[in-house]
Amino acid sequence: MGGYIPDELIEEIRVRSDIVEVISDRVLLKKSGANYKGLCPFHSEKTPSFIVSPAKQIFHCFGCNEGGNVYQFVMKIENISFPDSVLLLARKYGINITDQKIKGVNSSQKNTLYDVNAMAAEFFQRQLSDLPQGKTAREYLRKRGITDNIIESFKIGYASTSWDGVHQFLKKKGISTDIQNSAGLIKERENGGGYVDRFRERIIFTISDSEGRVVGFGGRILNDTDSRPKYLNSPETLVYKKGNILYGLNITKDSIRKSKEAFLVEGYFDLITVYQHGIKNIIATSGTALTEDHARILRRYTDTVTLVFDGDEAGRNASDRGGIVLLNGGVKVKVISLPHGNDPDNFIREKSGEGFLNIARESKTFMEYIINKAIAESDLKSLDEKIRCINSVIPFLSIISNSVERSIYLSLLAEKTGVSEKAIMDEMSKKEYRMQNTEYVTKKSSTPHSALRTPHSHNKAERILVQLMLLDNKNIEKIKRHISIDDFKDNDLTEIASVLFTLSNSNDNMTISHIMDMLSGERLKKLVSEMVFEDIEYQEVDKNIGDCIRYIKKNRIDINELVKQLKTAVSEGNHQQFKELQGQILKIKQNSIIHDS
Ligand code: UTP
Ligand code: MN
Repeated sequence: MGGYIPDELIEEIRVRSDIVEVISDRVLLKKSGANYKGLCPFHSEKTPSFIVSPAKQIFHCFGCNEGGNVYQFVMKIENISFPDSVLLLARKYGINITDQKIKGVNSSQKNTLYDVNAMAAEFFQRQLSDLPQGKTAREYLRKRGITDNIIESFKIGYASTSWDGVHQFLKKKGISTDIQNSAGLIKERENGGGYVDRFRERIIFTISDSEGRVVGFGGRILNDTDSRPKYLNSPETLVYKKGNILYGLNITKDSIRKSKEAFLVEGYFDLITVYQHGIKNIIATSGTALTEDHARILRRYTDTVTLVFDGDEAGRNASDRGGIVLLNGGVKVKVISLPHGNDPDNFIREKSGEGFLNIARESKTFMEYIINKAIAESDLKSLDEKIRCINSVIPFLSIISNSVERSIYLSLLAEKTGVSEKAIMDEMSKKEYRMQNTEYVTKKSSTPHSALRTPHSHNKAERILVQLMLLDNKNIEKIKRHISIDDFKDNDLTEIASVLFTLSNSNDNMTISHIMDMLSGERLKKLVSEMVFEDIEYQEVDKNIGDCIRYIKKNRIDINELVKQLKTAVSEGNHQQFKELQGQILKIKQNSIIHDS
C-alpha cells in the first residue's frame, strides 16, 4: 500500500503545480472566457464539455462527470494511485522529496517495469555500438540511411545472436526472471526448461510512452532471407498496451503541437526516415490497428491527422479503417495517397522532404479520399457499378455527424456520379445500409452519455446552499448563522458543507482545490467541480439563501412529524398508511422543487 505523505507536502506540490499546464500536456485546451475548454480525455466526444479553471485550479467534464483538482486529473489520466500522482507532480515541478517522507510509495510494479525496460534499452543500444557482431546491424542501418544522431535519440539498438544476452545481463543487475518475463523481454523455451531472450539477432526499436518511459520493443530481422517474421514486438504487459501507444510520440509531440497537425505512418522505418528528412510531426502505429484510445491520445496534441499509409491494398484498407476510428474519436482526418508500391520510407528517400511536403499539400480530406477512391475503382458508365460505387460511400457518409459537412460531401458524390442527392439520401435511409454502416463504425464509447452521469438526486435546497458557499466564501458565514450541519440531510452535501464550515472556522486556505483534498471520495470531488463550473448565476443571493434555509427548516419539521406518524403506522400494523408516509418522506428527502414560502 502507498506510504504516508504529509498534508503540507500534498498542499505544497498542489500549489506549485499549474493545472492548465499539466492538462495541456494531454488535452488541447482553448481559452474560453475565464476558463479553458477542450475535448474530454476520459470519454469520446466531438464537442468540448471539458472545462479547466486556471483561477480555481480544478477541472470538470459535463459529459462524463469527471472532475477534481490536479491530483484527480493525474491519477485518472495516468491510471495511478494518489501517492504516485503526488510523486509525479513533485518530479515535474522539481520539488525534492526525501525518501523517508514517503517511504514505500514508489515501489509500484509499473515503475519496476519502466526501470527494467530502460535497462534493457541501454543494453541493446550498447550492443549496437560496441559489439563486433553489431557491425552487421550498424551497416544495415547505414544502408537504410539512418544517422548516428537518430540512432541515439530514438534509442535504436541491437539484439545479438545470443540466446540469453538480456536475460543474463538483467540477472546480474538483480532483476528476477519473473520480472524479466513480465516485461516481455524473455520467454519460456519451447521445450520447457528455462527462459531465452525474446529478441535475437534483430535491430531493436525502443518503444516509449508519451512521457518517454520505455514500455516495449520492436525488433526487425537484418536479412530479408531470414525465415522468421520480419518484425517481432513485445507482448502486451502492464505498461505496454498496444492500443494506446503511438511509436515516436515522446519525441515528436512538441512538433505536433506546434504544427497543429500530425502525419501518421505504419512502420518504424517510415517514421524514422521521414523524421530524419526534417518532418518531425509524425507518429507510427507500428503494426496495430488504430484504436479509439489512439484517437483520444492524438487529440491531446492536434485536431488534424494526415494518414500516410502504404500505396498498396493493405495500406488503403488500413487508411479506411483508421480514418473512421479517428473521425469517430473527434479527429479531423486527411489522407495522402502514395504512388502504388511506395511506402513513406522509400518515397521520401527518393523524392526528399520537399517531395513529401508537395504530396502532403495535395492531401485530401478523408471523405474526399473515400469518394475519389470509390469513383476511381468504378466504371461509371455501367449502371451496376454506379450503384456499387455509391453504396460503398454511403456507410462513410452516414457517420458524419455534422450535417453541413455531410451535405457538402453528399453533393460532391452526387456531382461526381451524376445521381441526384435525393436518390442517394433515399438509399442512405434504407435499412441495409445502416446495417452495413454499423460494421464500419467502430464501437463508440460503450457507455451511453446519460449512463456516465451520476444521477442528480441531491436535495435541491441543500445543493444550492453548498453551491453558493463554494462560489463565494463569504456566503459560508451567512449560512452558518442560520443553519447547522445537522440540518443537512443529504450525505454528500453534508460532508462538503461540514468541510466548508470547518475551514471557515480556521484560518486555513479556502481554495476549491484545497477543499478537494479535504473531501473523502472521488464522488464528492466530482460533485464539487460540477457545482463550481455549472453555468448558474444567482441573482439575489441573500434571498436565495433565505429561501433555501426556510425550506430546509420547514421540511425538517415536516419530516420529524411524518416520522412520528410512520412509527405509529408501524405499531398499528397499518400497512397502507406506512406506504403512504414512506413515500412522502422520500419525496421530501429528494425534493426537486423549491417552493416559495
Ligand atoms: P511493413 O511490412 O510495411 O514494413 O510493416 P516496413 O515498415 O515497411 O518495414 P521495412 O521497411 O521492410 O523494414 C509496417 C509495420 O508493421 C509492423 C511493424 O511495426 C512495421 O514497421 N509489422 C510488420 C509487424 O509488427 N510484424 C511484421 O511481421 C511486419
Ligand atoms: Mn518499408
